[in-house]
Amino acid sequence: MSKAVAVGCRFKNNKQKARAIKKIMECHGDVPQSEINKAVGPKKLRNWSLLCDPKDRSRVISAARTEKVLWYQWDLKNLVTNPKYRGQGLGTKVLAQSTKRAVDKGALVLTADITVDNVESLAVAKKTGFKPTFKFCWGKGKKSAYILHHVLYPPNIKGECTRP
Ligand SMILES: CC(C)(COP(=O)(O)OP(=O)(O)OC[C@H]1O[C@@H](n2cnc3c(N)ncnc32)[C@H](O)[C@@H]1OP(=O)(O)O)[C@@H](O)C(=O)NCCC(=O)NCCS
Repeated sequence: MSKAVAVGCRFKNNKQKARAIKKIMECHGDVPQSEINKAVGPKKLRNWSLLCDPKDRSRVISAARTEKVLWYQWDLKNLVTNPKYRGQGLGTKVLAQSTKRAVDKGALVLTADITVDNVESLAVAKKTGFKPTFKFCWGKGKKSAYILHHVLYPPNIKGECTRP
């Protein structure tokens, strides 16, 4: 499949941005409305990395959000590409942007949780530097999920920390 062209987004205001993010999150198909509403709250809006349709720069076609959970740790909260544009590298691109954003803000470790059968999401996360470490159970009868870690500054082969 040919690579989709996507560009940075432009919004008139935060209201338009929140609407566009809600729309792309609805493409996920598995996120409750209450979580969607929380993810576009005023303090969370700036945590998003977004790619838009070049013909309409307020139409989000791929999105990811990372959130600070500890002074050194950020968590990947939402990753989604519009189904029409999947398999063309956008999820990988937007997650790389989101990771860079967190690292620029001081993240030393990124975490994610991904259900074991979500092969597309696992492929994207692995390409971006995340490694599955453990599996855990959400609840009885549910699919298990991987916890993934992306460690930006592991110790060197001698166990020394050389990060500047
Ligand atoms: C996960 C998601 C964001 C990926 O978006 P995308 O734009 O299609 O991502 P990319 O095109 O960059 O990469 C998709 C990867 O999945 C891989 N893939 C697709 N189908 C696959 C399959 N059946 N088995 C293994 N890998 C598969 C592709 O090969 C590709 O990896 P590659 O480039 O190394 O070949 C998208 O599938 C999505 O929105 N899913 C629904 C929401 C979701 O599950 N989000 C994650 C919550 S943790």
